[in-house]
Amino acid sequence: MAKSVEEVRAEIPFLRTGTIYLDNAATTPTPQPVIDAMLEYFSEYSGNIGRGLHRVTRRASEAFEKTREKLARVINAKPGEIAYAKNTTEAINIVARGLKLRKGDKVVATVLEHHSNLLPWQRLERERGVKLELVQVSRECLIDPAAVEAAIDDKTRLITTHHVSNAVGSIQPVEEIGKLARERGVLYLIDAAQSVGHMPVDVRKLGCDFLAAPGHKGLLGPQGTGFLYAREDRLAELEPLLVGGGVVELVEEHKYDLVKPPQIFDAGTPNIPGFIGLGRACEYVLDIGVEQIAKRERKLTEQMLDISGFERVEVYGPHELKRRGSVVSFNISGLGHHDVASMLDELARIAVRSGHHCAQPTMHHLGVEGTVRASVHYYNLEQEIEKFTTTLEQIARELGG
Ligand SMILES: Cc1ncc(COP(=O)(O)O)c(C=O)c1O
Repeated sequence: MAKSVEEVRAEIPFLRTGTIYLDNAATTPTPQPVIDAMLEYFSEYSGNIGRGLHRVTRRASEAFEKTREKLARVINAKPGEIAYAKNTTEAINIVARGLKLRKGDKVVATVLEHHSNLLPWQRLERERGVKLELVQVSRECLIDPAAVEAAIDDKTRLITTHHVSNAVGSIQPVEEIGKLARERGVLYLIDAAQSVGHMPVDVRKLGCDFLAAPGHKGLLGPQGTGFLYAREDRLAELEPLLVGGGVVELVEEHKYDLVKPPQIFDAGTPNIPGFIGLGRACEYVLDIGVEQIAKRERKLTEQMLDISGFERVEVYGPHELKRRGSVVSFNISGLGHHDVASMLDELARIAVRSGHHCAQPTMHHLGVEGTVRASVHYYNLEQEIEKFTTTLEQIARELGG
């Protein structure tokens, strides 16, 4: 039996503050069992990993490593294909720095990428002469796989796209892009920051080489956690971002041999409690059921989309509900996006995000400086969305222009 909304809400202490939290695309509140798993580490076995033989370090190492299995279950991968990262941004940077791309190599991305999936490639363009081509997208912010295919030439080494846009919520045709990447012999990296935990994500079905995701969003894990999936044969091709303690087989005065992936990416003391918490969070999300989460979020998103019928409100992104993730992005004419977000907070204690959402090229594409963004997770209530839509209608009616 899936965990009910009421059960989940009762287990998220932050919700007792009375905040109507519609900023789940930024980060999500933490359920008590996840907090408890971290507390247990701090109070019972807070040792370092892999650095000794005593029972504290053994227990910590085992719990830390176990999370790879749990993440692998969530995305249908193997534990050995999961590298830990501190967030999605780091996971993307591991690929960008690790692939050893050279002058003349080409990377294909889109104008809708989050800055975290743009700057790492721009840096390679600046530092190494790698060519970055950004594919244009439709007005509804959907990627056309044919446009991606047209951008591929014999220099193209990698395609990268987001799965779900954090700025407007569009779900992209990642399976089709994965298929054409395979046909053309090009690597494919998916930025799954807004999909893992929110909807079924199966890396085998997607046919991607790499997938970067956070622990602290859809998976309800702690901040400071994320991961990179890399297909078994690909992980070994990546040079780690950091080298140092904890990742060596042998060190001599002027040379070293590193351990094998995925532990090769764990130089230095990692976020041990965070990854132990993330393991518990994966179980928690699997207990609710990812299908259940997707179904409920779609229902809540449909309800949020009532605002598209309001006068003076413009909603961005796809019209079709099935092309939308759990993010609704909008503006009210005559009002600034930050003002609208402040009013929602002042009037009804509703937390939404405003600004460019770390996606300035997406804002250029839409012809706006920023938007207001409301984003849900499984635990949000219909009554909360109702409060959001009625408060917004009032703001638009009384103050919009
Ligand atoms: C699509 C997308 N990519 C990347 C990121 C960066 O994620 P993180 O904060 O985990 O580094 C975000 C964060 O909101 C995002 O939405």
